[in-house]
Amino acid sequence: MRYKSQSVAYWYFAVAMVLFGLQLVFGLLSAAKYLGPDPLLYILPFDVTKTIHTNLLIVWVLTGFMGATYWMVPDESRAELHSVKLAYIQLGLWTIMGVTAIIGYLFRYGTGNKLLEQPLPHKIVIVICMLIFLYNIGMTIRKAGRFTTTEGVLLLGLASSALLFLPALLHYENYTVSIFYRWWTIHLWVEGVWMMIMGAFLAYLLIRLSGVDREVMDKWLYVIVGLVFIAGILGTAHHYYWVGVPTYWLPIGGFFSALEPAALVAMAMYAYAAIRRSGLAHPNGIALHWTVGAAVFTLFGAGLLGLAHTWPGVNRWTHGTLVTAMHGHAAFYGAYAMIVLAMITYALPSLTRGRPEKGSSLGYWAFWTQLVGMFGMTLSFATAGIGQVYLERIMGMGYLDAQLKIQVHFLMLIATASVFALGVGMFIYDFFRYPPRAPETAGEGTPVGDNAIPVQ
Ligand code: HEM
Ligand code: HEM
Ligand SMILES: [Fe+2]
Repeated sequence: MRYKSQSVAYWYFAVAMVLFGLQLVFGLLSAAKYLGPDPLLYILPFDVTKTIHTNLLIVWVLTGFMGATYWMVPDESRAELHSVKLAYIQLGLWTIMGVTAIIGYLFRYGTGNKLLEQPLPHKIVIVICMLIFLYNIGMTIRKAGRFTTTEGVLLLGLASSALLFLPALLHYENYTVSIFYRWWTIHLWVEGVWMMIMGAFLAYLLIRLSGVDREVMDKWLYVIVGLVFIAGILGTAHHYYWVGVPTYWLPIGGFFSALEPAALVAMAMYAYAAIRRSGLAHPNGIALHWTVGAAVFTLFGAGLLGLAHTWPGVNRWTHGTLVTAMHGHAAFYGAYAMIVLAMITYALPSLTRGRPEKGSSLGYWAFWTQLVGMFGMTLSFATAGIGQVYLERIMGMGYLDAQLKIQVHFLMLIATASVFALGVGMFIYDFFRYPPRAPETAGEGTPVGDNAIPVQ
């Protein structure tokens, strides 16, 4: 930690860790309901546990993005944050928003719009938090007068995420119209502007961890991120196949979304090449694992498993089945959970007291256990989903009868999810094992290699 104000990142990460743990509790609860009988049917039905599960995911990942930004911007701009106080106010407001939204769902208080269930007052608080955040970061960079391209992409991604949240504030009576605009937020987030955020963190980590030349790194990454983004805009139409809009969206959605994985192949290859060239010299080997892991798992979860059902001819069978859940888990985990865990792992030795730079074997166990668990979960959802498509959509079996036949895959899901949860438990334990470093000790425990790398 070179700058005192970077210490706010610790508290963002700490909140993210707690919410991550809670997300899994609701994931396991949702999975258990597939096996029945469900003693909580009238208190906590499936729709409530799933809403809480996915909302906690979005809140903790965004909390992680914010913390990682508050860590990275002072480092890149070589200046203290504009206002530490504002950053804490933002965290307080944000956490209260997240927690009360979850409590609200328990009492069926929500809009019912999948992933955007937050009631209007909560959505307004989200907008306020984003504005405080963007103002604080913008002022920091302005005051510092030093603005790297990595930061530029990060800021563009964050500002566009805030902008794309605006359609979610509106309410439409017509279901087709409502779902049409819902994807402007959800799809353009995960397959558009969040990719910029991920790309920026990835570039930052690769520059810091591998010492790869910043200019080369920047150029490549922006080409890659730009490609995902361009294909991603018209790729939105892969959600328009069966929602009641004109049929010309079918070829548009199929063609452009099928282009998206090409850039993800390039990203994974580039991350791998950067690390190989560096000779794995950086002591923080666990952060390296998370960084390359994120690029590779994104290629698998988003690229390969997205491509698997993006063509209209396939999607007409798989739409809205457990095949979607298979892809949703692997993609979200690879692209957004892993990159946040990478930033945390990189920053943690300097944010906490007494933690060795190279980490401990527990850190590696946490990495591999999660990876094996998530891979197993993906396979469980995939086998359940393929069975569901065959029985329900091809054989014409009723929904509930088909679910009974595929129950065995949910035993597999719970087993593999337990392995995954164990890995997350280890990560969280490792996170809280060392106390946070006092801001006054800035300069101590600065990651190796930081000062050796020229900043533009
Ligand atoms: C990191 C990037 C990605 C993430 C986090 C992600 C996540 C998700 C999630 C959560 C859903 C379910 C959404 C819902 O029903 O509300 C979904 C659906 C879908 N995704 Fe992705 N995705 C990503 C990239 C991709 C890519 C690159 C492709 C195509 C090549 C793709 C193809 C699809 C398709 C076709 C659906 C709709 C499935 C259906 O019809 O039920 N995704 N994605
Ligand atoms: C203990 C681990 C977990 C378990 C047992 C679990 C289980 C589940 C279940 C049963 C569903 C509902 C599927 C359905 O609609 O039928 C679900 C939805 C979802 N989960 Fe998880 N989950 C876990 C961890 C995660 C993680 C780590 C992520 C992301 C990083 C994630 C992302 C999602 C998403 C995006 C959906 C919505 C998918 C869709 O609508 O198709 N889950 N999860
Ligand atoms: Fe999409």
